[in-house]
Amino acid sequence: MKLFKIRTVADLTKNYIITSSKLKVAHFSIIALTICTTFAIIANIRAPVFLQILLFLLGGFLIYKINFKLKSFRYNLDFYLILRESLLYVLHTNRLYTTSKDSSGYEKIIRSAILEYELDRQKGHVLIKALITGDEFSKKVQSLDSVLSGALGLELEEKIIRPSFTEYHFYYIKPERLVLQSHNQRQEIDSLDIDIDLGYGVNYNPIKCPNILVSGGTGSGKSFFISFLMLEFLKRQSTVYIADPKNSDLGSLSYYFGEEYVATTPNNISRIVRQVLEQLHERYQYMRENFQYGANFSEHGFKPIWLIFDEMGAFQASGTDKKSKEVIVEVMDGIKQIILLGRQAGVFILISAQQMRAETLNTDLRDNLGLRIALGANSSEGYRMVFGSATPDKLKPIEVKGAGYLYMQGSGKETAQYWESPYLDTTQFDFIKELQLYITKLK
Ligand SMILES: Nc1ncnc2c1ncn2[C@@H]1O[C@H](COP(=O)(O)OP(=O)(O)OP(=O)(O)O)[C@@H](O)[C@H]1O
Ligand SMILES: [Mg+2]
Repeated sequence: MKLFKIRTVADLTKNYIITSSKLKVAHFSIIALTICTTFAIIANIRAPVFLQILLFLLGGFLIYKINFKLKSFRYNLDFYLILRESLLYVLHTNRLYTTSKDSSGYEKIIRSAILEYELDRQKGHVLIKALITGDEFSKKVQSLDSVLSGALGLELEEKIIRPSFTEYHFYYIKPERLVLQSHNQRQEIDSLDIDIDLGYGVNYNPIKCPNILVSGGTGSGKSFFISFLMLEFLKRQSTVYIADPKNSDLGSLSYYFGEEYVATTPNNISRIVRQVLEQLHERYQYMRENFQYGANFSEHGFKPIWLIFDEMGAFQASGTDKKSKEVIVEVMDGIKQIILLGRQAGVFILISAQQMRAETLNTDLRDNLGLRIALGANSSEGYRMVFGSATPDKLKPIEVKGAGYLYMQGSGKETAQYWESPYLDTTQFDFIKELQLYITKLK
């Protein structure tokens, strides 16, 4: 019900006719008036007692209904009004206005800082835009973090300083961590337009945002998260290749995926990277020969190919002699091609590393990894190595297993956000059993 639009701006020079307390008074007055008139009318009707009782009951019911309608109407408006009043309060108490005395000595507000606000009730998102107009408040409105946070009783999620306004983002609905459920049947997702739900309000689609980086110290939850992603890739009928130079969790999956798809030694890793590259070039060739303007791989009937490269740092450290160093150079060159050319052909890479040093992957290539995640506690240099300029200024401590920071290119967020990876309860969720729904055991 949208009868009239409320001005979603707080400005002390304006007079606001509708306020939440006035609305409350109006609501109760209407109800009181309705009760009085209804019952006065009924009491004055000449009718048998039983009919009057019936009319009273009917009247009571009617009033209940009217009250219900009014209440929901008022609650809808109240969200906006209370927000505006909190912002006016902030402007007032922080003296974000300038007064001037008129001829009769009456002090009047002549200028005020202006706070615009937007409310998305579905997401529970409040966006406050403090306008920067070059007036005396322009500096102050860029640092309202704690003041706004206190007035709204919410934690500041993100702050973006733009040329003509500063954005403050708050959420009053806490995003929820995804909890993995086991299935008895395989799920097939045909359309690549359907995003992968990463939980905590994050949806990921490799077509819009190709390639993934997962970094984090030992025990931070990299393998758990990669296992989850692997299942999501398989549901989308992707071909998955695994390179696990440390030959740990992922390497042991060769039993299910087949040796052709899983590599643990440098030579084998180099072989699967070559294999992926061959398919990439074949796809390019095919798409050139069957050229359709603007068409991507899926419109040519191709499914995604994912190369999961665990512990890239360990792989690079393994090169000790001349021969193995050559292999590493060749593999890294292949990875570079996949990162730079893969998107069009639907060939993607997921890289995991304990530390994302510039020697592991130079920053230009890193910036081409669309989804970047840092799990577990990290130093601010650690975050900077993963997120670069998207490192948030204020970082929350990481206290939950599998939690960290996430940055997704094109998501509209300027900096990395706090995030908790899908929760995998091993007593409830059997990864291998789940995997077997998608992979028929080889040999
Ligand atoms: N998403 C999650 N849900 C539930 N538990 C988790 C999750 N992520 C991590 N854990 C817990 O943390 C432990 C370590 O996680 P994991 O093996 O994924 O870490 P890792 O980063 O791969 O470590 P390493 O670098 O040593 O391989 C798991 O055994 C599990 O108990
Ligand atoms: Mg691991």
